Amino acid sequence: MSDFSRQTLPLSSTLRQVLQRLNEGVSGSVFIVDESGRMVGMFTDGDARRAVLASESLEEPASGYMNTSFTSVSETMPHEDRLKFLNERIRHVPVLDERGRPVDMLSWAQLWRLPLVEPSLGGNELKYVTECIKTNWISSQGAFVNRFESEFAAYHGISEAIAVSNGTTALHLALVAMGVGEGDEVIVPSLTFGATANAVIHAGATPVFADVLEGDWTIDPEDVRGKLTNRTKAILPVHLYGVPAQMDLLVDIADEHGLIVLEDCAESLGARFKGALSGTFGLASAFSFFANKTITTGEGGMILTSDEALADRIRLLRDHGMRKERRYWHEEAGYNYRITNMQSAVGCAQMERLDDFLEHRKKLGAIYREGLGKLPGIRLQEIGPDRTSSFWLFSVVLGEEVAYTRDELMQELLKEGIESRPVFYPLHVQPAYRKFEAGDCPVSDRISSRGISLPTSNHMGLEEAERVCKAVASILSRAKLPEA
Ligand SMILES: Cc1ncc(COP(=O)(O)O)c(C=O)c1O
Repeated sequence: MSDFSRQTLPLSSTLRQVLQRLNEGVSGSVFIVDESGRMVGMFTDGDARRAVLASESLEEPASGYMNTSFTSVSETMPHEDRLKFLNERIRHVPVLDERGRPVDMLSWAQLWRLPLVEPSLGGNELKYVTECIKTNWISSQGAFVNRFESEFAAYHGISEAIAVSNGTTALHLALVAMGVGEGDEVIVPSLTFGATANAVIHAGATPVFADVLEGDWTIDPEDVRGKLTNRTKAILPVHLYGVPAQMDLLVDIADEHGLIVLEDCAESLGARFKGALSGTFGLASAFSFFANKTITTGEGGMILTSDEALADRIRLLRDHGMRKERRYWHEEAGYNYRITNMQSAVGCAQMERLDDFLEHRKKLGAIYREGLGKLPGIRLQEIGPDRTSSFWLFSVVLGEEVAYTRDELMQELLKEGIESRPVFYPLHVQPAYRKFEAGDCPVSDRISSRGISLPTSNHMGLEEAERVCKAVASILSRAKLPEA
């Protein structure tokens, strides 16, 4: 039950008081009550706008303009029945007690809340996990681990896949196993999730932040060139939000300078650059199976590589530095970065549906691109004709000319029941990474300050994506005009 002290106003209130209260963001409606607390009228944003147009002064009593034939429901009515009163036109319905006093409010947002991301676990996930539990194979040994690894490798046409505890450990383990460590520099994009740089730092190396391209938001190959030093050991491109980085140019730079390429594919499972899957360009690549990713194992990750010796070292380090053939004999001080059989069981079930997930995301992406691409004030993340996105999270930039801030747009979307998320903050400005002397990354700054990610999930309805587009269009059409 909500607190109505801010939602209700006395019958004696002026129009100005009603507008002020609405402006404070009280769920888009104000309830007018008489001295006994009984609800006698209502103002929504729309009612208030009409009242302002019809009135001569904001000091007039609001009672002359309130909606007295508002829809309400009784507190004794079953919740399911109450919800039937909400629709696209009636977005706020007060719940009244037997004396007509407001005690709760139903809102459209309550009825329809679209999460940013939701995992899809409706296939064989439960069956396979149950199998683990029934057979006691719940830890990091068991048939599902090998099966998950070989299916993942086969999907990519790569010989070696090593499953690990999460995407960050995948990056860290790959870097350590490839010999990246103290004294080395690794070039990473500034616009990414912190885990990309954390893995470099935990390997003992120094992250060097490069800016991203204005069009596709991935690491700028020219800026990478500018950041090369004689300490540069690796380039770590991120396929941000599912859009592949310019892999041909980056691989060329790496080849020219004898550098390692490690791909951060946490967000790009299934994306392609010039026909080839992301994760097949570098010496190794790292994937994440966190719950918000295209496929999930709850927590989990995977490293891909075609280099057998490297894969061998990764497996050794994943398991405390012990060889399988000689337990409790440590060749190196390794880690416990193993995945469990239960997580892998979920992963196997998810792999069965990966193609369907990607197909569905493609359709969502097409709807978003069509619906939002034509809106003035919205700039899409470009994909480029030589690439396909995995549409991990559909993200856009709000043009500078729009008088909303990104956070205001997110607030407005939330009022419509739509969750959204700001684009990552650039790493080079954050306390954890400032000491690495990145220099400027103005494009990352710009995209981050106006960038927003919209709901994208494997089983989100196509009509829901259409609804998000309509909501964005309608919110932008209400945006204040910029100051002259
Ligand atoms: C670009 C990027 N790199 C790395 C990671 C780390 O993955 P995890 O959360 O599985 O450790 C993530 C995901 O959260 C990510 O988005």
